[in-house]
Amino acid sequence: MSEVIVEGRNLKRDYNIGGGLFSAGRTIHAVKGVSFQVEKGRTLAIVGESGCGKSTLARMITMIEAPTAGELIIDGQPIDIARGDLTPALRRKVQIVFQNPYGSLNPRQKIGDVLGEPLLINTGAGAGERRDRAMEMLLKVGLGPEHFNRYPHMFSGGQRQRIAIARALMLNPRLLVLDEPVSALDLSVQAQVLNLLADLQDEFDLTYVFISHDLSVVRYIADDVMVMYFGEAVEYGSRDAVFSDPQHAYTRTLFAATPRADVASIKARLARRAA
Ligand SMILES: Nc1ncnc2c1ncn2[C@@H]1O[C@H](COP(=O)(O)OP(=O)(O)O)[C@@H](O)[C@H]1O
Ligand SMILES: [Mg+2]
Repeated sequence: MSEVIVEGRNLKRDYNIGGGLFSAGRTIHAVKGVSFQVEKGRTLAIVGESGCGKSTLARMITMIEAPTAGELIIDGQPIDIARGDLTPALRRKVQIVFQNPYGSLNPRQKIGDVLGEPLLINTGAGAGERRDRAMEMLLKVGLGPEHFNRYPHMFSGGQRQRIAIARALMLNPRLLVLDEPVSALDLSVQAQVLNLLADLQDEFDLTYVFISHDLSVVRYIADDVMVMYFGEAVEYGSRDAVFSDPQHAYTRTLFAATPRADVASIKARLARRAA
């Protein structure tokens, strides 16, 4: 039987901006009522152009921001932040990885400590246990023991993204929200990080919400696809259904705008992965 890890029901998020002494403010409807379900071990990809509400949705799913309306259900539990539902145990279940991990890495902290920190803050794990778990996770994401005592500036973009992924996994989350995790990386490095994410998903039974504006990446990683357009989900279905028979005019425009080179490169990536 399949198990739903995260569900959104008609999620909305408004922002009130401006509004000074002599001017009325206005309301931005960043997310206008979006519904979805992701089953355990599956990947929902959310795609759409800049400003369509992807990161806003990501912040609601990771409980960084409460929805203006609608319902978020995690592991069967409806979440109401205002009611105080956001316990440490619940927070640990959902982790996020951003496009630019450098901003969230303390430049004076060695990688071993970066990885041990979630355990330090959230668990009673002692120094030895933290070190062991950090080392274990470092190896899982394809880095080596020699990296343990290095500082963030000594790593490449792809390596830093591996560190951010490792850090997000330290507390054994159920759900990982990845907001444009490979968008800043070179194509060859993108493929490596995507393969790593696929391997980690299998190993840890992880559920992903994967945000991207790159259709070739989405085609590669997604089980289900949601296309967002001005705060709305204009398309939602299995990857194969969405790619073979897009229903909405916007999706067809989006697909038409994807250069053929992308299709070729994704085929090459798939071939390499299969090899
Ligand atoms: N904190 C905020 N305050 C005001 N407006 C915001 C805020 N966050 C996002 N927005 C607006 O909401 C819309 C959606 O933004 P965002 O979710 O970042 O889109 P995406 O991630 O798809 O690029 C944009 O118009 C953006 O300017
Ligand atoms: Mg964004």
